Amino acid sequence: MAPPRPIGARVTHDAAKLIPLEAVEPAMIEALLDRAFGEDRQGKTAYKVREGVDWLPALSFAALDADDMLVGTIQTWPLALTDSQGRRHPMLMVGPVAVVPERQSEGFGHTLMAAMTSALDPQAALPQVLIGDPEYYERFGFISAPTQGWSLPGPHEKHRLMVRAPNPGVLPDEGTLGPWIG
Ligand SMILES: CC(C)(COP(=O)(O)OP(=O)(O)OC[C@H]1O[C@@H](n2cnc3c(N)ncnc32)[C@H](O)[C@@H]1OP(=O)(O)O)[C@@H](O)C(=O)NCCC(=O)NCCS
Repeated sequence: MAPPRPIGARVTHDAAKLIPLEAVEPAMIEALLDRAFGEDRQGKTAYKVREGVDWLPALSFAALDADDMLVGTIQTWPLALTDSQGRRHPMLMVGPVAVVPERQSEGFGHTLMAAMTSALDPQAALPQVLIGDPEYYERFGFISAPTQGWSLPGPHEKHRLMVRAPNPGVLPDEGTLGPWIG
């Protein structure tokens, strides 16, 4: 049996091509998300928390395969965590990260995550938040311990609310996540 892959190893897809998500027709993005998550996806809390804001073009990508077929997307949104004193802490929400069902587990998800993390400002990367499967996202450095006192505008499983930050110790213990509206 192969030894377990070390946590944090990047196993990207060799032939994947990354393009800005802006270059993809919005209807194609929506169709891909329906296939990856199901058509009832829009009612989820992850959608409510970013209501009213647009995804950030510099941190949102599409992955194409060797035949230039669209196989995956990643979107990143501006959020704020409002703490108990009413101070707003800027954050990024990552997701959905989606790969079409027939091309999953080939490395496209890792490729998309690597594209997003590489595009962050290395001097001042904002904390990145997501709601997802810890078994997948822990390998990229997302943890749920700092988010346990955070609330969202809808139901969520606490262990699935995760954050990746250069220094998680300085994150507020309590707060409410919502869209960053300047
Ligand atoms: C989750 C998703 C983005 C991962 O992308 P991907 O291209 O399929 O995955 P990768 O090739 O990057 O990584 C494959 C590895 O991740 C694991 N993995 C994939 N999805 C996983 C999940 N939801 N939970 C735990 N592990 C997962 C695979 O078992 C594989 O593990 P291994 O490296 O130990 O063999 C993609 O599968 C997807 O869009 N799924 C549908 C949406 C979904 O169910 N999301 C749940 C998370 S919010």
